[in-house]
Amino acid sequence: MTTLLHLSDTHFGVERSEVVDAFLRWASANPPIDVLVLSGDLTQRARRDEFERARALVACLAPRACVAVPGNHDLPLFKPVERLLAPYGEFERAFGAARAPCLIDDALAVFGVDSTVPLRHRNGRVGRAARAALLAALAAAPAGALKVVVAHHPVDCLLDSDHANLMHGAHELVREGVAAGARLFLGGHIHHPFIRPLAARHGEPAGDAWVMQAGTAVSRRLRAGQGNSFNRLVLEPVVEGARRVALERWDYRDEGAGFVLAERHEPGWTLARA
Ligand SMILES: [Fe+2]
Ligand SMILES: [Fe+2]
Repeated sequence: MTTLLHLSDTHFGVERSEVVDAFLRWASANPPIDVLVLSGDLTQRARRDEFERARALVACLAPRACVAVPGNHDLPLFKPVERLLAPYGEFERAFGAARAPCLIDDALAVFGVDSTVPLRHRNGRVGRAARAALLAALAAAPAGALKVVVAHHPVDCLLDSDHANLMHGAHELVREGVAAGARLFLGGHIHHPFIRPLAARHGEPAGDAWVMQAGTAVSRRLRAGQGNSFNRLVLEPVVEGARRVALERWDYRDEGAGFVLAERHEPGWTLARA
């Protein structure tokens, strides 16, 4: 079994300590964590101490690999000089210089891509060079691997009021990414978790790809009607030449129950033996 934990919008600086504790309890009771994905807005104000808390969480979880991409909150909004000259300085100090990290093994290929735009705080898009690099990496990944794209800004949303928050150029990224083999798109930003087939928004070009949006994992920045949550992907061992994949959403319950399984889907992908 291979597992991928998808956390987003932790917004360290305005985290709920009781939710962080509940999450760590869940993690220690539900090993292993092979891949940890952090899909941006790790911090509230891109401060060094906030990034250090995000790093401390990664150290506690001790995944085999961590794929982290920045969100708009990980760029210094109120420090114009820093924003102009070194917008990714603190992110890179904490998570390394590669803002488009990737992880590849025979079962799972996870590609992070930076969708932030330093001079336009909230809007997201993937630049031409980054998109070309992503598409080449997707095409080159092992054919039998589940290919996953991670960006902060979403390629899908459920609410009309979130349309303005969609990544600019989302449709092209989905169409070209799916053509290059992507099966799953992970995102954050809107603090509204959901899991569904991408064809619901992008039609036939989305093929059999799915989207898995994470809520805010541990922060106080909750949207009306939404609690804290995270997602998990479980990749079963090969049986008769194929692997089963499950996509799960885990929600935090205030009544002391901690994180509980809220939804689970099996997309039914056929993944050939690598
Ligand atoms: Fe956020
Ligand atoms: Fe965001």
